[in-house]
Amino acid sequence: MPNYTNSVWSETPPAPRHRALAGTVSVDVAIVGGGITGITAARLLKRAGQRVAVLESRRLGKGESSKSTAHLTEALDVRWSRLISRFGEGGARLAALAQRAAIERIALFVAEDSIACDLRRLPGFLYAETPDDLDELRAEALAARRLGIRAELVGEVPLPFPVAGALRFEDQAQLHPRAYLLGLAEGLDGDGSYVFEETHVLDVDEGEPCRVIAENGVVHAREVIVAAHVPVSNRLLLHAKLAAYRTYVVGVEMPFADPVGLFWDTGDPYHYARSQTIDGTSYLIVGGEDHKVGEADDTAEPFHRLEAYVRQRFGVAVAPTDFRWSGQIVVSADGLPYIGRNALSSRVFVATGYGGNGVTQATLAGVILADEVRGVPNPYAALFAATRWKPLASARAVLSENADFPKHLLTDRLPHRGASALRSLPAGEGHVLTIGGERLAVYRNGNGELSALSPVCTHLGCLVHWNTTEKSWDCPCHGSRFDPHGRILNGPAVEPLQARPMPDLGEGDEEAELLIDLDEGLPA
Ligand SMILES: Cc1cc2nc3c(=O)[nH]c(=O)nc-3n(C[C@H](O)[C@H](O)[C@H](O)COP(=O)(O)OP(=O)(O)OC[C@H]3O[C@@H](n4cnc5c(N)ncnc54)[C@H](O)[C@@H]3O)c2cc1C
Ligand code: FES
Repeated sequence: MPNYTNSVWSETPPAPRHRALAGTVSVDVAIVGGGITGITAARLLKRAGQRVAVLESRRLGKGESSKSTAHLTEALDVRWSRLISRFGEGGARLAALAQRAAIERIALFVAEDSIACDLRRLPGFLYAETPDDLDELRAEALAARRLGIRAELVGEVPLPFPVAGALRFEDQAQLHPRAYLLGLAEGLDGDGSYVFEETHVLDVDEGEPCRVIAENGVVHAREVIVAAHVPVSNRLLLHAKLAAYRTYVVGVEMPFADPVGLFWDTGDPYHYARSQTIDGTSYLIVGGEDHKVGEADDTAEPFHRLEAYVRQRFGVAVAPTDFRWSGQIVVSADGLPYIGRNALSSRVFVATGYGGNGVTQATLAGVILADEVRGVPNPYAALFAATRWKPLASARAVLSENADFPKHLLTDRLPHRGASALRSLPAGEGHVLTIGGERLAVYRNGNGELSALSPVCTHLGCLVHWNTTEKSWDCPCHGSRFDPHGRILNGPAVEPLQARPMPDLGEGDEEAELLIDLDEGLPA
């Protein structure tokens, strides 16, 4: 059975351990989340003389930043032609400048801090496999030219399979995301600043000072940056403009020379590929097969499709021992991230909605938020403001993405026929069932023992679904994820799933079946 949770960069380099928060500390700026957003802001603020505290639920380098494939490109998930129609040529040009500035800012951090993260400049290729998609490439080439992005149409790409055409972007970049993040965090802890790990934030209380309330302590701060990938202090306002997706990646040892470039196709769902040498071994890293969180019946399927794609296009068989992982991306309604002051707040700042461009956009967010907190004007702040509402650009996307929220609230509550599911629930798997009239998220551990949780997501009350490959309870509404015991893996939820006593089902599975079927009014 393959391991579905190990990325090519999960273990290297080793990370120093930081203590957990215990008691109360006071700083200038508290930062919730130790990913690229939070660490970038912390690094800039500390260098500018501010005392900061980073509060991280898990360890640095365990969030989405370390699952990333870290293509640093001027191209975004949403085509530039579409962004011009949404934000006007002026707005789109500013967004393009911001994207280039983020790549250069990363390169500057790497040089200033001597971070050994294998930063490499190389071209990027948006390629079409069928002639039907060539018009899309032509439109994108025109849009790129209007915005001053260096990109041209080409007939060939350095890939081992034929394509109909491609748009080549010059001077893009890639790096080892975990090594970059840990390098950027070096020197943050100390001199009145703190990095707290295993410190889960439960609430942010805005005031003078603000109070960031964690499980075992409180941080007092003049301002708070919520850099938790999704806002954990804003329960609804921003989430109505966001949608969470899972994306899948395989990393396989490469039997041929590195394809020199970053590659992504025009397909839907799309694929992305690049290579990376780690400790002398070259890996081909290919991702894609995205779907909304909690909406895949069997999460092994996207991996199987990805493995078939790698076999067909690159001629490489993915072995059970090769790397497989998936991660979360959060997309905004209008295609640009939300960065800035939280709605209805004057001292709490947020950053989210980066889609698959989050290494560059988290960097951009760190820079903008560090400026905003210090009252320094930033040329990109107004464009990305978290409180913006672009009615024409956002309305359709919000309606279609959030149409799922009431749907999941209602339809997921229809009876689940649990009898056969419980009887056949294998070790290491979970299922949402109705037992004794109560809806339960039931998990069977490796020893065959059953345990139960409330399946009601602690964010806004949708029902979680079991994720077979990552062994997690995933909420389809706004992407919260919980481990088999209910502990939080991804927000916006901040509270765990509530434990429930596992009903006494008697001697055997037959009694469990009877109990469930009677409760659901179904003939036994
Ligand atoms: C598979 C994959 C491929 C990707 N590929 C690319 C790519 O090629 N190019 C690109 O630019 N982007 C890519 N991205 C996107 C990019 O990696 C992310 O958007 C970016 O790293 C997010 O950074 P972050 O700091 O916002 O979030 P994270 O790195 O997730 O950091 C947030 C941190 O907050 C912590 N946290 C959450 N809640 C709390 C709480 N209540 N209390 C305390 N801490 C909390 C989490 O534990 C986490 O460590 C990819 C993402 C994935 C998953
Ligand atoms: S994540 Fe919002 S209801 Fe679950």
